[in-house]
Amino acid sequence: MNAKLVAAAVAVIALGGLGAYGIFAGQGVAAPTAQAAAGRAMVEVALPAQLSATAKLGETAFNARCASCHGVNAAGRAGVAPPLIHKIYEPGHHGDMSFLMAARNGARAHHWRFGDMPPVPGLTDAEIGAIITYVREVQRANGIY
Ligand code: HEC
Repeated sequence: MNAKLVAAAVAVIALGGLGAYGIFAGQGVAAPTAQAAAGRAMVEVALPAQLSATAKLGETAFNARCASCHGVNAAGRAGVAPPLIHKIYEPGHHGDMSFLMAARNGARAHHWRFGDMPPVPGLTDAEIGAIITYVREVQRANGIY
């Protein structure tokens, strides 16, 4: 292959990657994220005026173990993981058990194109319960359910 062909192939691959990114970034997301930098919040999250004591514990655990992927305030991170403050994750669609299972066993990519979620080891049931309480309170404050 000569240099020109190689350059053309690289350009095609790069464009293909951008196209795929555009498709997933636009999926079910309120904000225009197609041009968002990787890692940016995917939705705007309003915090409740007050979190319950349990939710506050959950927030701390969430920030330590989940926010690196799901973003601060569970607002998602472009190119990394979805916002949990999202209709898809309301209790009627993803009940509390699915949160417990995701933390314990991970989750196979099915709603998005971020890839699989790995298990998050070392959390007690109580800690995961507090995380769920936190996510639910923030979901309610944002009219998710
Ligand atoms: C390494 C990155 C990463 C971390 C850390 C992470 N997640 Fe996830 N999570 C993902 C990705 C990616 C998905 C999307 C899977 C899909 O396409 O549906 C996901 C999906 C989920 C789902 C939906 C599961 C389902 O059944 O569809 C829940 C609930 C969830 N995460 C909760 C959490 C909680 C709670 C934590 C912290 C204890 C956490 N995640 C930590 C990446 C992560």
